[in-house]
Amino acid sequence: MARPRVLVTRRWPEEVERQLAERFDVSFNDGDSPLAATDLAAAMDGYDVLCPTVSDRIDAAVIAGGKRVKLIANYGVGFEHIDVAAAKANGIAVSNTPGVLTDATADIALTLILMAARRAGEGEREVRAGKWTGWRPTHKLGSSLTGKTLGLVGFGRIGIATARRAHHGFGMKIAYYGRREALPDIARELDARFYPNLNDLLAASDFVSLHIPGGPETQGLIGAQALATMKPGSYLVNTARGGVIDHAALAEALRSGHLAGAGLDVYPAEPKVPEELLGLENVVLLPHLGSATRETRIAMGERALANIVAWSEGRPLPDRVA
Ligand code: DGY
Repeated sequence: MARPRVLVTRRWPEEVERQLAERFDVSFNDGDSPLAATDLAAAMDGYDVLCPTVSDRIDAAVIAGGKRVKLIANYGVGFEHIDVAAAKANGIAVSNTPGVLTDATADIALTLILMAARRAGEGEREVRAGKWTGWRPTHKLGSSLTGKTLGLVGFGRIGIATARRAHHGFGMKIAYYGRREALPDIARELDARFYPNLNDLLAASDFVSLHIPGGPETQGLIGAQALATMKPGSYLVNTARGGVIDHAALAEALRSGHLAGAGLDVYPAEPKVPEELLGLENVVLLPHLGSATRETRIAMGERALANIVAWSEGRPLPDRVA
């Protein structure tokens, strides 16, 4: 029997591309530039499995492009870029890669918290510009983390991993908002306080870190009103999805000084970064590096592969989301 045809839309680490090619008839994207919507739609007719990433929009029009694809094995945990309702309606299964990028993403959340609090981006720019005039007691004073409250919006795997680092590593107090209270063991370990109301969490936190999925339900959740509710002089960090924040309102809160700083790894229309943020010194801007470690990107590929193998053997998908 012919081997299933698989399309991988972006380059994966070599090790996992090799593993995939050993088992399937795979087309790789050697140039690594994003595929056009028309190419993705055409692929629906030419392949059995599509492996997109967060940089591919798999909407209903793409899905309507053909009837051959039976599995969309997403390389990544977030899948709001895939119209899962349209996939379902067309009998296409969808899987993701949960768990394996938890630590790497929590590390980037802490990177952003530290960089924003300690003005690391500003300092680095000053040094490179040859403008550093030497040590002085009032130079680039930031905020300590110890004893400050970190408010996590969303307390799933990545939120909890971020809280662990902040609490055990930096002595931060932990507060969280989520759909439900955390398991008692976790709440006890982190001495974490649950806020059933988002505004109450925002008002109580010195640092707010976002860990909720993107999509229509969370679009613009952190807008002008939510930002105004945050403590004066507090910080906002986002490693989740860009659409969660209204960036015009964020830029205003940073410009006015209501927020002391922010750290962002994700944006609504990547790779575009909202223009109004680019000129602000008190925001750290990273290029969606959350899961960008070698180990993690290999593990993500292996996880996607496990789903494709399960599908090809007619077994239940380990990470089915639709
Ligand atoms: C994900 O997996 O959703 C990440 O944002 C991509 O690194």
